[in-house]
Amino acid sequence: MDSIRIIGGKRLSGEIHISGAKNSALTLLPCALLTEQKLTLGNLPRLADVDSFGHLLNELGVSTKVSGARKGDGPKRRMTLEARDIASTTAPYDMVRKMRASILVLGPMLARMGEATVSLPGGCAIGDRPIDLHLKALEAMGATIEIAAGFVKASAPGGRIAGGDYSFPVVSVGATENAVMAAVLAKGTSQLFNAAREPEIVDLCNLLVAMGAKIDGIGSSHLTIHGVEALGGADYDVMPDRIEAGSYACAAGITGGSVELVGAKADDMLAITNALAAAGLMIEMTGRGIKVTADRPLKPLAISTAPYPGFPTDMQAQFMAMLCVAEGQSFLEETIFENRYMHVPELRRMGAEIEVHGRSAIVKGGAKLTGAKVMATDLRASMSLILAGLAAEGETEVMRVYHLDRGYERLEDKLGAVGATIERIGGG
Ligand code: EPZ
Repeated sequence: MDSIRIIGGKRLSGEIHISGAKNSALTLLPCALLTEQKLTLGNLPRLADVDSFGHLLNELGVSTKVSGARKGDGPKRRMTLEARDIASTTAPYDMVRKMRASILVLGPMLARMGEATVSLPGGCAIGDRPIDLHLKALEAMGATIEIAAGFVKASAPGGRIAGGDYSFPVVSVGATENAVMAAVLAKGTSQLFNAAREPEIVDLCNLLVAMGAKIDGIGSSHLTIHGVEALGGADYDVMPDRIEAGSYACAAGITGGSVELVGAKADDMLAITNALAAAGLMIEMTGRGIKVTADRPLKPLAISTAPYPGFPTDMQAQFMAMLCVAEGQSFLEETIFENRYMHVPELRRMGAEIEVHGRSAIVKGGAKLTGAKVMATDLRASMSLILAGLAAEGETEVMRVYHLDRGYERLEDKLGAVGATIERIGGG
């Protein structure tokens, strides 16, 4: 297994080009199932999860053709998908096990074929990640759901989903995405209340509208979807990754550097830039993106994660790392997932002083971080260890970086280009 080695203490300076958003790509890809025509997605990030999703779609009978450079700064990656004939309506366990976002084939497959069988995704490092809301939303649209032998089977009586209204008791990004992708081909109209409003949901709705879907209320928590008979193809670029951009902004913060996040979309990340500004970083809108500069000691923060437009849970670990070197005590509260502090023990080994009480964490601040061998556990926790390594004295080796490769494209190239001493070393 590969690991990444960093010699800390360098102020980062320069520009980082932001890739397409992982969490948008993973909900745009299954839209190929909704039409017989060709769907081309541009600005696709080169990530393990995107490749895995392509393989899953191939299993279902979707043909995929990729263009654009595999590595390096070459032309943006594009994938053309065609689901003329669906070969199977079953997403197998060994693929779903590796990537829980596979559950996002459930809604579109049900809409297109009138039935879908997906292995239950199971939990992951940050929590048990149930899918009850996905299933309740589909049932509200007329689907019958049965769970047996570790699989969930959804079917539409009469072969076509009816449509219906559902109010989410908890905001759920994935459940909203599955519900929207099911509703667009329903016989009738569906209304979703307390729907997730993340920019990735807006990206999904914009793609579906480009394919011919009829959706009102895009960007709000009340979506009205008028089912249509069929959808066409489209050629659509994935939105820039707001979490990647926020992660590299924290790299500038923790090293006292100045980095331009080229391609970042400011409107998608106001909660992040507001928190960065509150910590004392300077935020400048440039013609190409956002420039983040840390030219003074960082101030402590009190942060509570929340669904969009609140502070994103996917940025909690990265801010915690940055706040380890702030002047004063910070308070973080993780309201979305029950176990998203896996980075804390590893940060402590680098000299951070952090107390965890249930879903709250107190970060002492003023730490003199020292390099160490640390273990990545989940995607965003891994990034927090990379950030700590950038500021730590001496050498840090982050092991099991396959977690990182799921969400950060060419991380060592991008950080190396702004002055970090960082390299990937092949594991034994
Ligand atoms: C998406 O996960 C993202 N993943 C996550 O990003 C992100 O952290 C999360 O949304 C919240 O923003 C992708 O988009 C691929 P949820 P998702 O359904 O859809 C509970 C990353 O690091 N819940 O919004 O799985 C759930 O347990 C990843 O890029 C139910 O109870 O998240 C959680 O407490 C990590 N029942 C809360 O809702 C359900 O049926 C929010 O989960 C579904 C969710």
